[in-house]
Amino acid sequence: MTAADGTATARRSARTTKLAVVGAGAVGTTLAYAALARGTARTVALMDTNRSKVDAEVLDLQHGQMFVPQAEIVGSDDVAVCEGADVVVVTAGAKQRPGQSRLDLAESTVGLTRELMPGLVAVAPDAVYVMVTNPVDVVTYAAQKFSGLPRERVFGSGTVLDTSRLREAIARQAGVAVGNVHAYIAGEHGDSEIALWSSASIGGVPLLDWTGLAGRPPLDEEVRTRIAADVVQSAYRIIEGKGATNYAIGLAGTRIIEAVLKDEHRVLPVSSHLDGYYGIDDVCLSVPALVGRGGATETIDIPLSGGELRDLRASAERVRAIQRRFGL
Ligand code: 2OP
Repeated sequence: MTAADGTATARRSARTTKLAVVGAGAVGTTLAYAALARGTARTVALMDTNRSKVDAEVLDLQHGQMFVPQAEIVGSDDVAVCEGADVVVVTAGAKQRPGQSRLDLAESTVGLTRELMPGLVAVAPDAVYVMVTNPVDVVTYAAQKFSGLPRERVFGSGTVLDTSRLREAIARQAGVAVGNVHAYIAGEHGDSEIALWSSASIGGVPLLDWTGLAGRPPLDEEVRTRIAADVVQSAYRIIEGKGATNYAIGLAGTRIIEAVLKDEHRVLPVSSHLDGYYGIDDVCLSVPALVGRGGATETIDIPLSGGELRDLRASAERVRAIQRRFGL
């Protein structure tokens, strides 16, 4: 048995937590690294069809164990390594190339989701599944269908990352800490996503009333439009520059997993199945939702302006059209 072989070492006591990460690419490995650094789970299992890659990644992660909270790291090309996981994060799939949109990846990733989910559910039937593979809304819808699991236990990372990008940009512009900004990106994790300015706030002040701190310009309409456009464009810029995004999605994914494992009931804009949300049905899309040990159990009826509601419905229609194209 090699050091990276997960089949024997994956056994654990009933009281510890296990995270399985499917896909040892840039996103999966960064997510595993972030989870180890933060002590997110007692066991982190990495699964990838490329055995030499997964073995190498596991060894590299194991060699950092002296510096992180106690954890066991295992890996394999066999789905059995995910056995008994509390959370399974799926990052496997085609890589977005410069100039490609996330929706362009649907053809290959929907097929992959169809192949992957039954095997994963067979070994980890009680897990919460967090889909990260793009286009994440369509992939989440497909995963719900192909897993046969209750919908709340299969959701997508959605616009948690985009929301972090938005808050960071607002905080930098306003000159306050990111933690003092409350604002969400909703809709597709992609080109039709929407910044929900009408409900945003800074330090308890409605963002639309924010007049700016000394020496800083207010967040007027021109600034807001630029920030929202930058958020949409940011992944393209990163992919153009280094081929993939990985650090922020790794952290965002880890934060979502912690909300599940610690049963936090944290409000996060994950991609969940909408049925009757402001009249939007039968699509997976990001709106603020309650995330805990049961998965994404409830959506929050965040107030929307007329324009935001119109754009959210348009975003839903765009994602639904892709679902239909792939017979979902
Ligand atoms: C991101 O937004 C590409 O979906 C990935 O970073």
